[in-house]
Amino acid sequence: MKTKIAENVGKYSGQPLEELLSTEVIRERIRELGQQISADYAGKTPIIIGVLNGSFIFMADLVREMTTACEIDFIKISSYYDDVKSSGTVRLIKDISCMITHRDVIVVEDIIDSGLTAKFMRQRLLDSEPASVAFATLLLKPDVVDVPFDIEYVGFRIPNRFVVGYGLDLDQKMRNFPAIWAFPEGMEV
Ligand code: IMP
Ligand code: MG
Repeated sequence: MKTKIAENVGKYSGQPLEELLSTEVIRERIRELGQQISADYAGKTPIIIGVLNGSFIFMADLVREMTTACEIDFIKISSYYDDVKSSGTVRLIKDISCMITHRDVIVVEDIIDSGLTAKFMRQRLLDSEPASVAFATLLLKPDVVDVPFDIEYVGFRIPNRFVVGYGLDLDQKMRNFPAIWAFPEGMEV
């Protein structure tokens, strides 16, 4: 059965967006990340913690490319408040439900922009004394100057543009677009 691509995909209010990363390119990169993580965590059972909502598609693809055993949990954090600009504050909406003390933890994010969410996440997790904490993000924007620790697994470094799709939203919409699209400079949102 052929999948019907909806007419609104890759568009905002009928205006075409610019495809930055295709489904195939994303899939191939996630395969590499899955292999890398599997090699790095061979013989371990890391807990993969997805940062909701944006990480849900990347996380689902990433864990299926992993060959090591893993456990899954989610945390929900808000820093954007339905806007394209960060509010500069981070709010914990749903905490993790698993015990991470003495465990290896991998945080999965859709995108790291200012790094505010990543910093908050790291502190929250370190408070529970895990054995290790690593970060995997599908996208990294260049402005992430403010993170005083390594982001171990980066899918793609992208220009400083607003992107949607593959889990990323504008006002909760367009998360289901099957690739990553960028808003053209100057397009009204
Ligand atoms: P940070 O805390 O500034 O690193 O931003 C993290 C969050 O901001 C991400 O998890 C996204 O939800 C959101 N975000 C940042 N850049 C974009 C974008 O280009 N498109 C959609 N959401 C974004
Ligand atoms: Mg968002």
